[in-house]
Amino acid sequence: MTAQLIDGKAFSARIRAQVAEHVTRLKADHDLTPGLAVVLVGEDPASQVYVRSKGKQTVEAGMASFEHKLEADTSEADLLALIDRLNADPEVHGILVQLPLPKHLNEDLVINSIDPAKDVDGFHISNVGLLGTGQKSMVPCTPLGCLMMLRDFHGSLSGLDAVVIGRSNIVGKPMAQLLLGDSCTVTIAHSRTRDLPEVVRRADIVVAAVGRPEMVPGDWIKPGATVIDVGINRIDAPEKGVKEDGSVKTRLVGDCHFDSCAAVAGAITPVPGGVGPMTIACLLANTVTACCRAHGLAEPEGLTA
Ligand code: GUN
Repeated sequence: MTAQLIDGKAFSARIRAQVAEHVTRLKADHDLTPGLAVVLVGEDPASQVYVRSKGKQTVEAGMASFEHKLEADTSEADLLALIDRLNADPEVHGILVQLPLPKHLNEDLVINSIDPAKDVDGFHISNVGLLGTGQKSMVPCTPLGCLMMLRDFHGSLSGLDAVVIGRSNIVGKPMAQLLLGDSCTVTIAHSRTRDLPEVVRRADIVVAAVGRPEMVPGDWIKPGATVIDVGINRIDAPEKGVKEDGSVKTRLVGDCHFDSCAAVAGAITPVPGGVGPMTIACLLANTVTACCRAHGLAEPEGLTA
């Protein structure tokens, strides 16, 4: 391996420490405790794990955590009524509705009912518009984490060629906007892109966010490029043997084939331990930012785009 490893675990710990420091100051100087409300509808196991982890890290940073767990058959009216209450609650500075929602709920309607100032996911149409026009907004957590890592590694990103693989509203599109905001030349590639390998080979920065295990091989990567792997995919790992129930053990891999990409890239994020831990750290950062903005206070430096 020639690439430098970008350690998201260590980086996210630094961000969380900065958040905790800011929270301590908000309490001491302004008698303010930032509060994050997380709403989970239904019992999706992966979502339950995320929500538990979010609550734990919110409390560890000294903030207030409000968890609302609703039945899978909760009506849209009841969910919207809860969001209205959270919008009006002065102790709640950030609101996150865990996605995906059960099929009978209209995700766009629900997200757009959150007060944009409390939309710590940055998914509200107002925040999407503000980000797209280069105005102050709440920025989606995963792309914000990627941007922080890229800025930390490169310093200035100005003039670099960036290719974002994946056009989701949660990662691909906001990532492209952030890179454009930092003056990269940005290409968004997706499943219909012609000659994807050639497109990726032009990039100084590759952000892979497609959700396909090990889709990007090393021979697509320009020597010395920076690879940010957003994918978290679980695949069978027969080399690890079998579990007690006889099923094959599994392992986590990214959207990039790590060994071959690391042999060519200048820097790369591992999976796990790369982008993953940055997402919750940025959620905590966004909650502090929202709290500061709500009270007309100076925002924490280095924790926003
Ligand atoms: N589900 C998977 N990722 C996310 C995220 O970043 N925010 C929310 N609200 N739900 C998610």
